[in-house]
Amino acid sequence: MSGDALSANQRLYALFDHLGLERAHFGVQNTAELDSIIAARPELFASLALSGLNRLQAEIVMPVEDRLLLMYGDGGAGVDAMAASMPSLPNAESYCFKDYTVLTWSDVAGDRGAEIVPRWLDFLKRAEARAPASRPNTDQRTGEVAGISYRIAGPINGGGPALVLLPMLLSASQWEPIVERLAQHYCVISLGGRHLGGVAFIDGRGTDPGYLRGVEMHVKEIGIQPGETVLDVGCGPGSLDRWLARKTEGANPITAVDVNGYFLREAAVIAKAEGLSEIISFGPGNAEELQFADNSFDVVMSHTVMEECNADKMLAELIRVAKPGGRVGVMVRAVDMRSLWNLPVSATIKEKVEAPVPSVGIGGCADASLYRRFGQSGLTNLKLFPTTMTVSDPEGYTWKYYEPYLFSMLDDAETAEWHAAKAQAIADNSILLARWLHCAVGTKVG
Ligand SMILES: C[S@@+](CC[C@H](N)C(=O)[O-])C[C@H]1O[C@@H](n2cnc3c(N)ncnc32)[C@H](O)[C@@H]1O
Repeated sequence: MSGDALSANQRLYALFDHLGLERAHFGVQNTAELDSIIAARPELFASLALSGLNRLQAEIVMPVEDRLLLMYGDGGAGVDAMAASMPSLPNAESYCFKDYTVLTWSDVAGDRGAEIVPRWLDFLKRAEARAPASRPNTDQRTGEVAGISYRIAGPINGGGPALVLLPMLLSASQWEPIVERLAQHYCVISLGGRHLGGVAFIDGRGTDPGYLRGVEMHVKEIGIQPGETVLDVGCGPGSLDRWLARKTEGANPITAVDVNGYFLREAAVIAKAEGLSEIISFGPGNAEELQFADNSFDVVMSHTVMEECNADKMLAELIRVAKPGGRVGVMVRAVDMRSLWNLPVSATIKEKVEAPVPSVGIGGCADASLYRRFGQSGLTNLKLFPTTMTVSDPEGYTWKYYEPYLFSMLDDAETAEWHAAKAQAIADNSILLARWLHCAVGTKVG
């Protein structure tokens, strides 16, 4: 089974059947692909641990709240989300990382693995004593079922209870730093592929016309000519590289780099499956310290990456590796602008949910300072403009990632109003989320 039409939960059910999992412990960062499974088959969950949380919709995890562990940081917007959710989940356990802000791209297992492992093992031991998980009877350490890849560490052939790890969001090392320690006690099944986690999130956005419309406007201003070489910095799962390769009909060799090995592995698999591996080459690369010589590429572009890096270092590097006469194009999310949630809700709710969402790394750029940075960079022929991305599938990963953040701002009556308005907007085909992006393009002096 690998049909494109399958939903993520159908794929997961097929995998669970294949591995003989009637009950398992689960580790996730975000519940998006488990939401409907939690509702329909809560008995599948011997326990559920959410690690690196910065948003949570309490009603979704309610059916498993007596075997739920929430791990989050004490900084940033996530604290409010947790404070709002916790009273509805009185039986859940929680652990707060001190002096730690969880951002979408935080490497939580890498940064806080030493705290996560003992806490989680203790929680798992108690959950396992209450309702033991299935012991997968397989001797296959790797495989793929219904488009989901799996890799097993620890005891196999019925030797250990199943602990299923779904991919995290943008975390560079994913669960890797802690897998071996968990595998001393559990049959740890790490999942991957384009239908889950960060790849589903970023690739879902990167193949959505609502995002590509804004990207296209930006790329048009870059003005890529046939035969010009392109460097894409912070390529993620390579969605925009595949889009560009198709758009330019393979006329431009694309070099795509990222610091995230998980994304690079998945990007190469997807590009190969789509027959694009000849035109796109993926490899490791850090925006703040690119490994390429000065004056290497005709076009250097980057989309929604400068938020996560030191923006000064990154822009200097992008310019350094561009050839004289080459163009540098950067697009960032605009956390200084209000969003549009096109749902028929009251002005009070709109005021809250459409407020700018603070989400930028230290030294990163996610606001109109992008224009000043380009203005002072020495680049010429500047094109500076905002654009938007839209999301109109409330079942898609992007919507499911953004929406739960709002519930920490709404009281019970407002939440009920929100759900009714959402049903109304779906019924009248007008549901829409729009967010701003800032774009800048400049030419390196030749
Ligand atoms: C939100 S994703 C954007 C992916 C892609 N550009 C797109 O728009 O679909 C941000 C990407 O930037 C990468 N990234 C973050 N810091 C980076 C750095 N210092 N160097 C290279 N890539 C980085 C992340 O690993 C992630 O893949």
